[in-house]
Amino acid sequence: MSPKKAKPLQERIAVVTGGSRGIGKAIALELAERGAAVVVNYISSAKAAQEVVSHIESHGGNALTVQADISDFNQAQDLINSAMEKYDKIDILVNNAGITRDTLIMRMTEDDWDVVQNTNLKGTFNCSKAAIRPMMRKRYGRIINITSVSGQIGNAGQANYSASKAGQIGFTKALAREIASRNITVNAIAAGYVETDIWDGVPEEARSGFLEMIPLGRKGEPEDIAHAVAFLASDEASYITGQVLAVDGGMAMV
Ligand SMILES: NC(=O)c1ccc[n+]([C@@H]2O[C@H](COP(=O)([O-])OP(=O)(O)OC[C@H]3O[C@@H](n4cnc5c(N)ncnc54)[C@H](OP(=O)(O)O)[C@@H]3O)[C@@H](O)[C@H]2O)c1
Repeated sequence: MSPKKAKPLQERIAVVTGGSRGIGKAIALELAERGAAVVVNYISSAKAAQEVVSHIESHGGNALTVQADISDFNQAQDLINSAMEKYDKIDILVNNAGITRDTLIMRMTEDDWDVVQNTNLKGTFNCSKAAIRPMMRKRYGRIINITSVSGQIGNAGQANYSASKAGQIGFTKALAREIASRNITVNAIAAGYVETDIWDGVPEEARSGFLEMIPLGRKGEPEDIAHAVAFLASDEASYITGQVLAVDGGMAMV
């Protein structure tokens, strides 16, 4: 982190679900670099989450790890309670935690379906519902949901994932309308192909197929998504709500 960078989020408290790895880690580091205190949520990677917090602290920032399975309604509430206990407010919620269970629909089990909906879509509901009350009290909030190009244009082998990501988009728009009068904005970022652990097990041919679909001709970096999150969390984005910002190299121009 560069010490020279301005700190426009200095007084802000952010909760990043799935902040231990991949895109969530980049988001946590970016928000911290801009001055926010960050609650780094994870489900099983305690060491990785602690490393994110240590990195932030070693650069003069403030952060906390909180273990919680966001697909569980009560654990999501506990996550927000932990953030409130330490910081007494929540300004920014990034619903980033997500999983895949890719397979063709003919082979997809009920569990493949349920676990993906419960993590990606219900987790977004759980954390948003818990965070909204303290945000409403302060009459300030930024909720940013990390969705996917797969939720916009579909992807064979990802019916469960595409449905959950499309669901996040509908949720974003409905919630944005519901809480706009409380000065809380709700937006989504539709990420393209960013090579993280979520791609483990995806064959090389499929990966090169995705690459060919990207007009800008390269994979996204986790930081590409993090920069967009930082923008939507900034004061400059205060008049933007209910939108889906594609950060995908031009993959889906919807
Ligand atoms: N990578 C891409 O190409 C891409 C494209 C479009 C959208 N996205 C979206 O971006 C988000 C992040 O993806 P990623 O690629 O960074 O994935 P990743 O590297 O696999 O990281 C997933 C993160 O989510 C956390 N997580 C998973 N289930 C959880 C649960 N039930 N409760 C709490 N945390 C949980 C993991 O925690 P642990 O470390 O503890 O397991 C980890 O921090 C996801 O919503 C994904 O759908 C990714």
